[in-house]
Amino acid sequence: MNNFEYKNPTKIIFGKNTIEKLASEIPSDAKVLLLYGGGSIKKNGIYDQVKTALGKVALIEFGGIPANPEYEVLLEALKVIKEQNITYLLAVGGGSVIDGTKFLSAAALYEGDTPWNILKNGIRPEKGMPFGTVLTLPATGSEMNSGSVITRKETKEKLAMGGPGLFPVFSILDPQVITSIPERQLANGITDAFTHVLEQYMTYPAGGLLQDRFAESILQTLIEVAPRVLKDPTDYEAAANFMWSCTMALNGLIQQGVPGDWAVHMMGHELTALFGIDHARTLAVIAPSHYKYNFEAKKEKLAQYAERVWNVTEGSIDDKAYAAIEKTEAFFKGLGIDTKLSDYTSEYEGTAEKIGQRFTERGWKGLGEHKNLTPDDAEKIVKMAY
Ligand code: NZQ
Ligand code: ZN
Repeated sequence: MNNFEYKNPTKIIFGKNTIEKLASEIPSDAKVLLLYGGGSIKKNGIYDQVKTALGKVALIEFGGIPANPEYEVLLEALKVIKEQNITYLLAVGGGSVIDGTKFLSAAALYEGDTPWNILKNGIRPEKGMPFGTVLTLPATGSEMNSGSVITRKETKEKLAMGGPGLFPVFSILDPQVITSIPERQLANGITDAFTHVLEQYMTYPAGGLLQDRFAESILQTLIEVAPRVLKDPTDYEAAANFMWSCTMALNGLIQQGVPGDWAVHMMGHELTALFGIDHARTLAVIAPSHYKYNFEAKKEKLAQYAERVWNVTEGSIDDKAYAAIEKTEAFFKGLGIDTKLSDYTSEYEGTAEKIGQRFTERGWKGLGEHKNLTPDDAEKIVKMAY
C-alpha cells in the first residue's frame, strides 16, 4: 500500500426530509446565491422545500445551468456573484449544478482576467467561496469531493479541475429526491458510479486489501440495487443504498494508498465534448475497449473482480478476466445503456484520431495507472469502441 494523507471536510446530512435542516448549515450573515439547473427542481417540489427551509436567509437565485455545465453560462453567474456581493453558494442539483458551483467557488476568488485558465492551467485552488449542496441526482460523487468538470461549447472542450479548497462545506442527501428522476438518468447514475469504482480498482494488485474490498462492496451494492431503483424509485431502501454508494464511489476513500487509472474518463469526456453524449454513456462506450486493450496489465484485477463481484469461479486468470469484461458490458446493456460509439452517432469516423491529437496537444502523454498510455494508445482504444 502506498503512503497517503486523507482529509475530507464535507459534512454529510443524509436521510428522509433532511432538506429541512438547510438553514442551520448556512452562516446567518451570509448572502447566498442559490444555483440550479434547467428547472426540474421546480416541477418535483425540491425548489419549494429548499425555499421553505431557507426561511429568512438573504438569497438571490441563478437558474439555467445546463447538463455538462457550460462556461459561458457560469460567467453570467460569476457576474451576479460580483455585482451582488455574494458570500455563500448553494447548489441544488446533480453533478452539473454542483460542478458549476465549484467552478464559481474558485472563480469568485480568482485574481486573473480569464477564469478558463483555472481549467486550462490546472490551477488547484487552496481556497474557494464556501458552498453547500442539496443533491438531486446520485451519480457523480461531486457532493463529497473537490473535483469539477466544465464544458466550453465554443471550443468543444470539457476539462476537469479541482483542489483542496473546493469541497462542499455540507451536502444534504435525501434519497427521496430520486422519485422524479427519469429512468435514463437513473441508469446513467448507476453506470457513472460503477465506473468511478472501476477507475480506482481496475489497475494492478497493490496490496490495498481493504480498499479492494470497499470497492468490491460498492460494486456489489450497485448491482444489487440497480434493478430495484429502476423498477421503483420510491423504494426508499434501494434509493438510500444507491445514493450512498454513488457518494462513497468518489469521495476519495477507496482511492487512498492505491493506484488510479481514470483514462476511461479522460477519453469519455472527449466524446461528450464532441457529440454531447451523456457522461455515463461515454464511460460504457470506452470501458470495455480500454480493458480489452490493456488486458495484460489489468488481468489480475479483472480476474479478482470476476471472482468476487460476479462469482466467476471457473477457468484460468485469463478466462476470468475476459468474463469480467463481458459481465461489465452486459451489466451496462441491462441498464439500457449502449456500449458502442456507433450506437450514439453515425459520424464517428475520425473521432479516434481527433482525440489522439487533442491529447498530444495537451501534453497528455502518459495516462493510466502506469502513466504509459500514449495518445496513440488512446486513439486505438477509441477506435475499438466504434
Ligand atoms: O437541469 P435539471 O432541470 O435540474 O435536470 C437534470 C438534468 O437534465 C436532471 N435531474 C437532476 N435531478 C433530478 C433531475 N430530473 C428529475 N428529478 C431530479 N431529482 O437530470 C439531468 C442530468 O443532470 P446532471 O447534473 O447533468 O447529471 P449528473 O449528476 O450525471 O452530472 C453529470 C456531470 O458531472 C460531471 C460530468 O462530466 C457531467 O458534466 N462529473 C463530475 C464529477 C465530479 N465532480 O466528481 C465526476 C464525474 O465523473 C463526472 O465527470
Ligand atoms: Zn464519471
